[in-house]
Amino acid sequence: MEALKQYKQAIEKSNIVSKTDIDGIITFVNEEFCKISGYSKEELIGKNHNIVRHPDVPQENFKLLWATVLAKKTFKTTAKNRAKDGSTFYVNTTISPILDVRGNILEFIAIRYDVTANILLTEELKKKEEELKLLNATLEHRVKEQTKQLTNLNHNLKEQIRLEVEKNREKDKMMFQQARLASMGEMIGNIAHQWRQPLSELGIILFTVKKLFLKNDALQMEKQYKYAKSVIERMSKTIEDFRNFFKPTKSKDDFLMSDVIDEVLSILEGSFSRESVHIDVQVSKTLKIFGYKNELSQAILNIVNNAKDAFKDKNIDNRTVNIAVSKKGNFVHINISDNAGGIKDEVIDKIFEPYFTTKHASSGTGLGLYIVKMIIENSMKGEVIVANKKDGANFEIKIPIK
Ligand SMILES: Nc1ncnc2c1ncn2[C@@H]1O[C@H](COP(=O)(O)OP(=O)(O)OP(=O)(O)O)[C@@H](O)[C@H]1O
Ligand SMILES: [Mg+2]
Repeated sequence: MEALKQYKQAIEKSNIVSKTDIDGIITFVNEEFCKISGYSKEELIGKNHNIVRHPDVPQENFKLLWATVLAKKTFKTTAKNRAKDGSTFYVNTTISPILDVRGNILEFIAIRYDVTANILLTEELKKKEEELKLLNATLEHRVKEQTKQLTNLNHNLKEQIRLEVEKNREKDKMMFQQARLASMGEMIGNIAHQWRQPLSELGIILFTVKKLFLKNDALQMEKQYKYAKSVIERMSKTIEDFRNFFKPTKSKDDFLMSDVIDEVLSILEGSFSRESVHIDVQVSKTLKIFGYKNELSQAILNIVNNAKDAFKDKNIDNRTVNIAVSKKGNFVHINISDNAGGIKDEVIDKIFEPYFTTKHASSGTGLGLYIVKMIIENSMKGEVIVANKKDGANFEIKIPIK
């Protein structure tokens, strides 16, 4: 009997305990029950147990409870209850019917323990989980939105770049045209110069022919006629050279490097002799490359022309421009050097920029070397570098043979 009392005490100390009669009227509560519910023993004894019922709990739960315990079985649940002050507490509850010797229900005993903290924590967790889910969902949406914006931006950017590149191409074309016109002006001057001598030769021939006619010297007249024809052929060749030079090349071709150099020389001969600049050339007669012939000759012409210009207003004996073409592996190297004193250190990094010139506006547009760079790097897939040597500038062009 003493042991039973001790069991009872142990249970009452560790749990929340209440007893009701068969109708659910409270007949016993322990200290723990009073503590958690906020009611005193006096307030509880004699009241229906539903005094701690929480309005949130559905009716069905109680139906199930009563059905179970009246069937003399133990009912277990986690119950949501309301304390006297209206606050909520959760208890894990076990309700057992107590039977008499004949098996009739005497009373019910409910033993519980407090799980409020657990439940609240779980609820908090659930809430956080929901929030996270929501956040995740909106995040996904936001990321999608941002990606869309970025894609749009990217698309616009691409379009803008395309337009800019196109604009640039147009600009390049115009520059090219401008530079061509500039050198064309110079060429016309050269033609005039190159024609001066044959024209005066023709004048003399005509005069001679007139004299021979009066003398009736048919043989000498025939000689003068042949001579005149050769002079005219030479003049026509000059025109042909210039015409070829300005014909735009549309497709890549195999061509001889010596042809390119000859073409450049025949165009520049006049102005070089006028400025007393000697051109020295070393090029193999058989060296062939593949590419745009007229563009390459334009590039070489621009560099050689600059060398000629560099002598202007300078008192230099022995004015010389040297052109050397050689094959090194799969590349052709074209070296163009002069003894005009070189390029100033302050400007040497800028000379390939479009419109950079140190010349008077009437004589230089500053496009020459820019065009050289475009032709060599873009069209011919090669490289052009400049350096000063001891008495002048040196331009080196490297282009792949194929
Ligand atoms: N061989 C050289 N010696 C000294 N300076 C040079 C030489 N070649 C080029 N330069 C310098 O580089 C500048 C740029 O040359 P670039 O051919 O681009 O333009 P430009 O000759 O001034 O004008 P353009 O060729 O358009 O008529 C020249 O103004 C000149 O100062
Ligand atoms: Mg130039």
